[in-house]
Amino acid sequence: EAIEKGGFEHFMLKEIFEQPKSIKDCFRGRLIADEAKLVLGGIRDYATALINAERIVIVACGTSWHAGLVAEYIFEEFCRIPVEVEYASEFRYRNPVIKEGDIVFAISQSGETADTLAAMELAKSKGAIVLGVCNVVGSSISRVSHEGVYTHAGPEIGVASTKAFTAQLTVLTMIALKTALRKGTIAEQRYREILVDLENIPKKVEKALKTDEQVKKIAEIYKDARNFLYLGRGYNFPVALEGALKLKEISYIHAEGYPAAEMKHGPIALIDEEMPVVVIATRDSSYDKIVSNIQEVKARKGKVIAVVSEGDSLIPGMVDHTIEVPGTHESLMPMVSTIPLQLLSYHIAVMRGCNVDQPRNLAKSVTVE
Ligand code: G6P
Repeated sequence: EAIEKGGFEHFMLKEIFEQPKSIKDCFRGRLIADEAKLVLGGIRDYATALINAERIVIVACGTSWHAGLVAEYIFEEFCRIPVEVEYASEFRYRNPVIKEGDIVFAISQSGETADTLAAMELAKSKGAIVLGVCNVVGSSISRVSHEGVYTHAGPEIGVASTKAFTAQLTVLTMIALKTALRKGTIAEQRYREILVDLENIPKKVEKALKTDEQVKKIAEIYKDARNFLYLGRGYNFPVALEGALKLKEISYIHAEGYPAAEMKHGPIALIDEEMPVVVIATRDSSYDKIVSNIQEVKARKGKVIAVVSEGDSLIPGMVDHTIEVPGTHESLMPMVSTIPLQLLSYHIAVMRGCNVDQPRNLAKSVTVE
């Protein structure tokens, strides 16, 4: 096992640090940046159906559901196709409206999650085209899909999903960009620029991993907190949800992720000097808005840990801790901004003496409903 962990103390940490490579593996042979080409053989037959789709439904559970939320923003922005993201367990039991020709994406690391599988079967029975985004080759979900794209992140052993998440984002981004180009809903120049940005993501993730020591110091300060709040807007909203989920899963600290603007409708009541608030505030189209949200938290004496873009000169003066990550196109930011949050939950869990790779009550793959 020590050999399998490759010198890391836990599989989770190894998998977090593998991400520059796993993202590269995910687009190897698919993203040909100098030709501005995306080759996605796995969905060749249904590529046209995707272009013509009136609607996309995404079904998934857990971290994969968070990847689905990011994909919603990406598909709507680039492809102008309405997207709904559903918890597979809700979708399957509520007689959902599915029309022939609707595209249903099923996202799953293991490819064995019972609820996701059942949601796919239901969608298929109603005439939907079901496309899988799976990590495990030959898994049940990949077999039930009409077609699909593997994430090729390699085996993920830690129960808390990390590298599978960033690989799911990579695949979903590639599918959306290719569809948008063929559909004509993205300008070619912009498409080319984002492809170059995508190709540079592994380097940016590499750099984001360098925050490890700094994040560890922050973990030391807040490891005994009883609650955490995670806030983000736009593309970073699902990152906030995912950051909170990671912390809950492995450290057993109660954490909630919220869209930052929604804070005033409830969670703001919880903020006092005891409450650590992680704000993902990288430079994007909602930057000014999130700066105001940070002010709202500080006015109530909350402790703010902000994830910001390199070179931000405003936020560090307002908050208790800043973690800098490299900038990229806002649609790709989740792959970078999620990294320090993975590290934060990891270090807090280790410091609390938790079983990081196999947290209590959780399973890597939930094959029962
Ligand atoms: C379990 C795992 C999570 C995972 C979720 C969905 O809860 O502990 O890490 O996100 O299942 O799993 P899937 O394999 O379908 O992505």
